Amino acid sequence: MTDISDNFITLADGNKMPQQGFGVYKITDQSEFEQAVTAAWQQGYRLFDTAQMYENEQYLGKILHDLQVPREQIFITTKISEANQGYDATIRSMKESLKKLQMDYVDLLLIHWPINTHFFDTWRAFEDLKAQGLTKSIGVSNYGMVHLQYLATQAREMPVLNQIEVSPYMSQKPLLQFDRENNIATQAWSPLGRGKVFNEPVIAKIAEQKHRSAAQIILRWHLQNGVAFIPKSTHPERIAQNASIYDFSLTDEEMQLMDSVNKNHRVSKEPELVYEFGEQYPY
Ligand SMILES: NC(=O)c1ccc[n+]([C@@H]2O[C@H](COP(=O)([O-])OP(=O)(O)OC[C@H]3O[C@@H](n4cnc5c(N)ncnc54)[C@H](OP(=O)(O)O)[C@@H]3O)[C@@H](O)[C@H]2O)c1
Repeated sequence: MTDISDNFITLADGNKMPQQGFGVYKITDQSEFEQAVTAAWQQGYRLFDTAQMYENEQYLGKILHDLQVPREQIFITTKISEANQGYDATIRSMKESLKKLQMDYVDLLLIHWPINTHFFDTWRAFEDLKAQGLTKSIGVSNYGMVHLQYLATQAREMPVLNQIEVSPYMSQKPLLQFDRENNIATQAWSPLGRGKVFNEPVIAKIAEQKHRSAAQIILRWHLQNGVAFIPKSTHPERIAQNASIYDFSLTDEEMQLMDSVNKNHRVSKEPELVYEFGEQYPY
């Protein structure tokens, strides 16, 4: 591994996935979107993470097409929203997503949040979509241990990835270990804690000592933890900075200091409540 474009992990189904990617949540202005994804592509990002809910799949499809990016050189993730769960709606909406993305397949399809109303039939649709070649890998997002254990009671194949909130304030050690033990890759969303942890004294101090930004220290912590991660930024200089974490390392002691700032503090919703409400409850 020498840089961002050369750093892959192997999923349980044998497919390779870049460990670091680019998240596009909340980038809804088309020109801002195109500028950000262009910068990310030029800086070596090869994984792009979108979702039906973000309403920007069509922008991603268009800019990757305009950039003439070879399909096999990129890894595309999208997610089925709660409103599109259920067997038929999942299949139908997935095909709509592919049209918006201007692609024949995605690399990874995720259930965005677990919901009690369509828990097993959505997954059955995922297994069928994979068998049809419309997605190379299938996974979940925001699943806790119990959701994964429950899914295992009926799944023909298990998710190869669980995309969950992980940041220094929400380090999720038990779930990371559970995922590891069950051959499920963990991918961190809001890996920077949406910037709310930058002023944490422990992180600020390590950043100062290493002449790096707090964002770079946090992303390096994810990298060394073996977690996949997908920071978002609309600023080209930050996009470049976030990719520039392959030329330094954190010591064991610094890793432990980073672990010590955990507060089990979420920036967004509680997965169990989304499961019970059957939708992303007002927040
Ligand atoms: N599965 C899910 O339920 C779920 C939920 C949330 C997010 N996600 C995915 O995870 C991705 C990342 O999460 P996120 O966007 O919520 O949060 P994040 O990546 O932790 O943080 C993004 C914020 O940090 C700022 N930032 C980024 N790099 C910076 C740097 N080097 N210096 C200073 N500030 C910096 C960005 O500002 P600027 O843009 O202004 O630079 C933005 O405000 C999303 O885009 C999405 O793809 C998934």
